[in-house]
Parts: sequence; structure tokens; C-alpha cells
Amino acid sequence: MYTQAIDLAPGASPARPEAASGRDAAFEAAIAQDRKVEAQDWMPEGYRKTLVRQISQHAHSEVVGMLPEGNWVTRAPSLKRKAILLAKIQDEGGHGLYLYAAAETLGVARDDLIDGLLTGRAKYSSIFNYPAPSWADMGAIGWLVDGAAIMNQIPLCRCSYGPYARAMIRICKEESFHQRQGFDIMLSLARGTPAQKAMAQASLNRWWWPVVMMFGPSDKDSIHSAQTMVWGIKRISNDDLRQKFIDATVPQAELLGLSIPDPDLKWNAQRGHYDYGAIDWDEFWRVVNGDGPCNRERLGDRVRAHEKGAWVREAAMAHAAKQAARSQQRAA
Ligand SMILES: [Fe+2]
Ligand SMILES: [Fe+2]
Repeated sequence: MYTQAIDLAPGASPARPEAASGRDAAFEAAIAQDRKVEAQDWMPEGYRKTLVRQISQHAHSEVVGMLPEGNWVTRAPSLKRKAILLAKIQDEGGHGLYLYAAAETLGVARDDLIDGLLTGRAKYSSIFNYPAPSWADMGAIGWLVDGAAIMNQIPLCRCSYGPYARAMIRICKEESFHQRQGFDIMLSLARGTPAQKAMAQASLNRWWWPVVMMFGPSDKDSIHSAQTMVWGIKRISNDDLRQKFIDATVPQAELLGLSIPDPDLKWNAQRGHYDYGAIDWDEFWRVVNGDGPCNRERLGDRVRAHEKGAWVREAAMAHAAKQAARSQQRAA
């Protein structure tokens, strides 16, 4: 996944376009004509900063998102499920790497971005701060979390910033496989024994509301949204994406024979959409701000992994320095 518009903290001041100039005019023309802005093009500082924040949060989310599923690799119920889960987790690591590379084109250092994650300065999607205590959670995460990610990320393939948009095209293809493998796990469980079906239902009950929150604050509370829409970074509002996700997912739950834990969920023929119950925004902000069920565990795991990988980074740097010295010698 998994951008969440979590830069929309209440009270944050919206980014403002800079004063008009020749360079602004070229940028504005590119946006108006729906042309891509590339790394070497001039861009307003607010646009650059917004992208750095969004792309790096997205990269962090991909990397932290490997943790709840990584926990289940050794306990997958068959060789086939294990191979699929491993491939999915590796994809998420790859998404993180593409996205860090896309952020670097905006003039930031990857070390700084990673430092932001490890020190808690930067955010990542709050969905990964929820626990995955059963195998059915591997199904629910793929079906719902990756499903929500696709809703969010398909419009990002048309993002005005070229390197981000291009990264999203491949990522979306892989997310589609993730969603399918999750739905397939849910289908097997839902058609299995009563105990397996109950496990699938319990998992849906736990993940539904956190997934609905993944789309970020309601439009009326999304301070940055208007500007990011004008800049062509964001194409569809949080509430519209949330509605699209709910409309697409309800029939899938029906096919599984599982019930969505929302007593207010019902088809509204007039609107042509499902109505849904009130979202607990207090819970959303609590988790975003560090007090979810697994925030400390996830960050602790990332810090430990980073420390354990120090020798790899040092060896790679030493190798690169040796190679550079050799090619200098050859050139001399
Ligand atoms: Fe991903
Ligand atoms: Fe994914």
C-alpha cells in the first residue's frame, strides 16, 4: 500500500503555491495540460515537499507492512501458501525500494528518510499497527488492505510527478495479485469447516474498520487535499475512495458468505452507493499518533532490523569505495 493522507494532521497548515514567475508558469502549464513533471523540472517548494512526504510515507508503509505477514511465513498451512506469501512480502519490499528511489529524485537522501521512520518522525499507514493473530489475517490483509491500497493507488498512476506515477504502474499490478491471493485464502476458509469460516469472520470483524480508516480523514477535515488535487498529486478525495472501496467490497463479502461488522451498512438506491456507519476517528488519530495496538512493536522490529543490517551497508560501502578507487587507478 499504502498512502493514507496521514500528513493531514489537524492544525497543519496547508501548502501554498508560490508567487507567480516564469518558472511557475511552465509548471502551471504542465499541470493544466496534464503533462508529467519530471525530476529535472522546476517545481514549487510546496509541491516538492508534499511529494517527499507522501512518497516517503508510502515507502515506509510498504516496508513496515512486511512485518505482520512476515510473522506468518513459518506457519503458513501449506508449501503453496508459504511460497505465495513469501512472494507477496518480497513484492512489498520491492515497492518500498522503488518508492525510496522515487523520493530520492526530489533531492532527499534515503538515509534521512529512513532515519525519519526509525526515530518516529515520519508516519506510515496506521493499518500496520494492528495485530495479525490468525492465519485468516493473511487472507483479510490481502483481500482488504491490499484491496484498499489498489483503490488508493490506481489514481496515483496518473499523478503529475512522473517518477511516482511510473513506480505506481508496476506496484498496482503486483497489488492486484496480493488482493487476489488474500481473497483466495478467505474463500478457502469460508468454504472450509465451521471453525475455519468462524476464523475468517473473526478476521473480517477485526480488520474492517481499520481498513475503512486507511483512506484517511473525512474530506471536510482534509486540509491538504484541495492543494494536492490542484497539483494533480491526488485525483480522488478520501471519502470518494472510501465509498468506492466499500461499494466494491460488500458484494465480495456476500460471495464469501461473511458479514461486514457494520449494522448501518445498507444499499442506498437513491445515491447508488452503500451507506455505512460512523467511523471512530478517535481511534484513527490514536493509532496514527503512536498509540495503536502494535506501534511500539513494529517500530522496534524495524530499528532492530536496521541495526542488524549495519554490516551489510558497511560492506557495500567498502566494496563501492574499492571499485571507485580501482576505476580511478585505471583512468590515471
Ligand atoms: Fe505494496
Ligand atoms: Fe501489497
